[in-house]
Amino acid sequence: ERQKKIIELVSPLILTETQQVRMREVFLDEMRLGLAASPEKKSSLLMENTFIPELPDGTENGEYLSLDLGGTNFRVIYVLLEKGKAKKEMVDFYHVPQEKRMGPGDELFDFLADCLSDFIHKRNFQGRHFELGFTFSFPMTQKSLDVGLLVSWTKSFNCPGTVGHDAVKMLNDAIQRRGDLDITVTAILNDTTGTLVMGAAMDRRCALGMILGTGCNGCYIEKVSRIEKWRGKHTEDEMVVDIEWGAFGDNGVLDFIKTQWDRAVDDQSLLVNSYTFEKYFAGKYMGDLYREVLLTLAKNGLFCAASVESHKEGGILAKHGAITTTNISHIESNTFEGKQDVTKELLTTLGLKFDDDDVTIAQYMAGLLSYRGILMVSLLVGLLLKRMEREHCTVAIDGSLFRRHPRFRPLMEKLIAEFAPGRHFNLLETEDGSGKGAALTAAIARRLRTKEL
Ligand code: BG6
Ligand code: GLC
Repeated sequence: ERQKKIIELVSPLILTETQQVRMREVFLDEMRLGLAASPEKKSSLLMENTFIPELPDGTENGEYLSLDLGGTNFRVIYVLLEKGKAKKEMVDFYHVPQEKRMGPGDELFDFLADCLSDFIHKRNFQGRHFELGFTFSFPMTQKSLDVGLLVSWTKSFNCPGTVGHDAVKMLNDAIQRRGDLDITVTAILNDTTGTLVMGAAMDRRCALGMILGTGCNGCYIEKVSRIEKWRGKHTEDEMVVDIEWGAFGDNGVLDFIKTQWDRAVDDQSLLVNSYTFEKYFAGKYMGDLYREVLLTLAKNGLFCAASVESHKEGGILAKHGAITTTNISHIESNTFEGKQDVTKELLTTLGLKFDDDDVTIAQYMAGLLSYRGILMVSLLVGLLLKRMEREHCTVAIDGSLFRRHPRFRPLMEKLIAEFAPGRHFNLLETEDGSGKGAALTAAIARRLRTKEL
């Protein structure tokens, strides 16, 4: 009886065949609108030019710096490239405090320049000139490889006075303000782009890059002839396009799968009414989504009934951030191994009183939400594989969700194969698109500049 009630209650989280078909149609339509010269309505997909017309070819040499802002870790990286391979790499991690992530833009960029200076001084690199590739994992409208206008903040950043401004200029200005650094930002890129570039250096067949981490996004190689909005603007054959699929559905086209729990997560997020698709499952959000579902079950007496305090106002299940996506990865690993110990430990840590069924429910819900996310992302990858019509497509993937969650890789492999029958692909886990990928992109920028001369 309890099981029946639970299944009924959470059934909106199970995507039906019809919903899947509709989602595919809607995504294709949004892509079409995003690439159109004069779309009849605005697409929720940015389909943005990255100004990267070519991938590494093994001739990339030299020393570069890179910065990575927007994922779990802010990093400053030094890379020495030799024939497209990183011969030497040095990385420092810095914590970006909340007041910098939410405060005036100048202060955030001054902080980035301070970290750069700290990195340079620690290694006695003072007085040397460096070109820098800036991995800026936010939506941008790029005007060239070294101009990226911020479209909006996402995830846990929201600095007033920066939207519409060029992130390269903001960084360069901060570097100038410090006055002790000789650094030129020569390339700005999204983390998916860094991942694709890195993937291409490892496997030439790589044509799709994606992040499954704090946020979720993908970029792919598109034929310029198919990008109506660029007609006459580019002579290149191909270009890496940043889809910004995290925002898929921001115009309402995905509302048909939106549940009360998705709404609750969105309401509590930093930037409400944005990044619809990403909020359905990405690392920043899945933990809260899970908690919201458990909260509803608890309120209906279907979960941890002995813990009445847990779901009242101020109770643990009503507390934003009480359960993280990392917790979900751990629960899923536990389920995967046919065990329950880790799940029980988590419920105990949360202060919940539970019985055996509660543990099973906790594992079932983690599986259900994970599956929904994996299914959604696999649908998009399947569509892109079909669209690209490559003999073989290597998909480069990075991000904590993909790395830590035990079911993303195996289930994605299975579902993508179902969704794109006959298409050959493999998923390549690429670590450090922001380090090596950004350095390789800065090297490509150098090559492109030489070609122009
Ligand atoms: C890193 C990439 O490994 O993954 C970054 O180098 C990217 O560029 C990050 O932003 C995304 O993952 P997460 O989980 O940190 O958001
Ligand atoms: C968010 C950002 C996007 C980034 C993704 C993964 O969706 O808008 O630019 O690629 O997170 O970090």
